[in-house]
Amino acid sequence: MFFRLNDRILFRQYTEFGYLTDNSMFGYRFLNEDNLSVREKYISESGSVMLGMLSRTPQDLDSIVRKLIKVFTDVDYETLRQDTLEFFIYLASEGYLCCGESSEACNSFGHGSYNFASAVSEDYISEPYNFLRSIHVETTTLCNERCLHCYIPHGYKNKLIDPLLLYKILEEGRAMNIINVTFSGGEPMMHPEFLSFLRRSRELDLSVNVLTNLTLLTREIIAEMANNPMLSVQTSLYSMNADVHDSITQLRGSFEKTKSAVLKLLSQGIHLQISCPIMKHNKDSFSSVIEWAGANNIPAAVNHVIFASYDNSNTNLVNRLSIDDLSVVIDKQISADYVSSLRETAREKYLLTGDSPICSVFRYYLCVSADGDVFPCAGWQSKKVGNLRTQTIREIWEEASEVRYLRQIKRRDFPKCVSCEDRGYCTVCMMVNANENSGDIFRISDFHCRAAAMTRAKINSYGCNYHQGCSRE
Ligand SMILES: C[S@@+](CC[C@H](N)C(=O)[O-])C[C@H]1O[C@@H](n2cnc3c(N)ncnc32)[C@H](O)[C@@H]1O
Ligand code: SF4
Ligand code: SF4
Repeated sequence: MFFRLNDRILFRQYTEFGYLTDNSMFGYRFLNEDNLSVREKYISESGSVMLGMLSRTPQDLDSIVRKLIKVFTDVDYETLRQDTLEFFIYLASEGYLCCGESSEACNSFGHGSYNFASAVSEDYISEPYNFLRSIHVETTTLCNERCLHCYIPHGYKNKLIDPLLLYKILEEGRAMNIINVTFSGGEPMMHPEFLSFLRRSRELDLSVNVLTNLTLLTREIIAEMANNPMLSVQTSLYSMNADVHDSITQLRGSFEKTKSAVLKLLSQGIHLQISCPIMKHNKDSFSSVIEWAGANNIPAAVNHVIFASYDNSNTNLVNRLSIDDLSVVIDKQISADYVSSLRETAREKYLLTGDSPICSVFRYYLCVSADGDVFPCAGWQSKKVGNLRTQTIREIWEEASEVRYLRQIKRRDFPKCVSCEDRGYCTVCMMVNANENSGDIFRISDFHCRAAAMTRAKINSYGCNYHQGCSRE
């Protein structure tokens, strides 16, 4: 039997565990790829040693076991061979590995999963760990659009990252075994070295996610993107009505450019997702984006949360939906599927306790600005915790006092939220609080509580013949 790592899977070996993932943890897949039901798996130390023997080229089982027997010295060859076979077959059945009776069969395995139900010894699977796996880089604040809601103040759209700093970040991150890099902006394609950034990331075997308005897409960029099976694109489309989209981006013709670029990427099989924040300007036509995306087999995420720009001016919030607008927007989306998905998320949130972390701050990723400043997430640039021109990623991740402080904040630090009956329909976010309330991470604007209460009431009364305010869970 021959085995190799699936082309769309990354494996990283850490001291105590291993981690297998496809790009869906960082990027997106097509809607009709449900058969590729992998996402992530934590592997035990011994399972990681076994997987560490694999590459993207097929190897026969016995040549792998001959290497392993030098590591696992207290087990006999046949037992080790059987354990390795069962473990690898199990991972192939889940889509992480490719296998076949010959090297050719293994190579032509494709991206599906091996149709062979197999249980695996718990010895090889591990509990989840928190570790740095992704770095979000704002390659430039320059942008050719001037979106009304943008969290980057327009006056700050004037910086480009030094390419040498970017390469240093990629190499240092890779040496720490990170998995993903996200390139965002501003508009990342405004950076003259953007193509080289993509190439270097591929050479370093990093999964890549690009957040872009796609208006500046070139043939060379498409070719490089198509060359990397671990790359995906997230683009912003606000309405299928060109006037509405362009009125948000404040760039005439941007709708046609973005739409046609989406279709080009699609024709090249490049994974993409559409992001459609809902605000006053597109509240009557955002549904057209969901329909168009669905018809083209593209995942689309709509979200009404518009957070304040990071200069604490709140000026962009004039575009945010009012509670009445939001009520209409929820009514437009309401369906059995929508309700059951919100109820499912709510069920998980109701299980959180005061000891649960408030969010994923500094547990999995960090963000870097074009100046090398490190901050917790893309919209929170007022919270600088270090700078990568003078410090290493490891120093900041492991030692920065602000990183340690933010990491230990728990839900109990928000006493009003711990037992709030609307908490299932709310995402408490320190960045949202800080940006909107002069840097105060603990102060929650009334708007978010009213939005959560209204959403819960609507979801609870869906399919209910009683009155609107019914509190049935
Ligand atoms: C800052 S942009 C950068 C990438 C690229 N320029 C684009 O627009 O896709 C990334 C995403 O953030 C969204 N975004 C910008 N400002 C926002 C805000 N205040 N609240 C919520 N989402 C916002 C954009 O709509 C876009 O989908
Ligand atoms: S949302 Fe993206 S495209 Fe729009 S102004 Fe901001 S950075 Fe530019
Ligand atoms: S609705 Fe308000 S009080 Fe309740 S969990 Fe959300 S932010 Fe906290």
